[in-house]
Amino acid sequence: MRKFIVAGNWKMNTTVPQGVELAKAVAEKSKSLPANVKLIVAPPFTHLVSVALELKGSDVALSAQNCADKEKGAYTGEVAADMLASAGCTYTILGHSERRQYYGETDAKLVEKVKLALANALDVILCVGENLKEREDGKHFEVVTEQIKNVLYNFTEEDMAHVVIAYEPVWAIGTGKTATAEQAEEIHACIRGVIEQKFGKKVAEDTTILYGGSCKPSNAKELFAQPDIDGGLIGGAALKADDFIAIAQSF
Ligand code: PGA
Repeated sequence: MRKFIVAGNWKMNTTVPQGVELAKAVAEKSKSLPANVKLIVAPPFTHLVSVALELKGSDVALSAQNCADKEKGAYTGEVAADMLASAGCTYTILGHSERRQYYGETDAKLVEKVKLALANALDVILCVGENLKEREDGKHFEVVTEQIKNVLYNFTEEDMAHVVIAYEPVWAIGTGKTATAEQAEEIHACIRGVIEQKFGKKVAEDTTILYGGSCKPSNAKELFAQPDIDGGLIGGAALKADDFIAIAQSF
């Protein structure tokens, strides 16, 4: 079954004590949410173990923001999927546009990362999305379709049960410019179609597709009301527990 998910991508924000406080507030306030809405928080690597302890006993899941494309060994500065699992993560975000843009993350590398995440019992939140130029050139459907095919077509139907897709138009991230509900819905429907082509209708229907990019309490309701939008990947608004929870209450 398709899950309704609101995931908070904290990016490179908060110190460890601030992150623990935020997690505590999210866990506390999450009790007011309906049981069919899943909350996930994705703090920086340094926070994971402490935040995992704070989330114990709650239904809030822990995610990393990235993982290495190698299993282990001499890769200074990298963090492997099995380390994340052992720290308490059950998800990892992969392919965020900031990783693609600033850290040279390619679809080929993402295939390796997704493999390692799944092999270590981490569900993947795979991010896709076009930049402003691509949108203005009318290439958004093509770009997103290619990103999905290049990465996910290397996996199986069974693997897809552990993959969440996040559509994040780069021009909407942290800019205050949200895609309209119609703009988001048409891409989400396209993504579901691309999944159906390879994996069939059942898998496509069961896949959770999140919207991300300046999603906040004031626009979440309209976005989440669309038939192919199953929740959000939230950046800025995830740093305030009240806003994050208000978004999750928008279904
Ligand atoms: P934003 O970020 O909500 O701050 O636009 C979303 C994201 O990058 O995941």
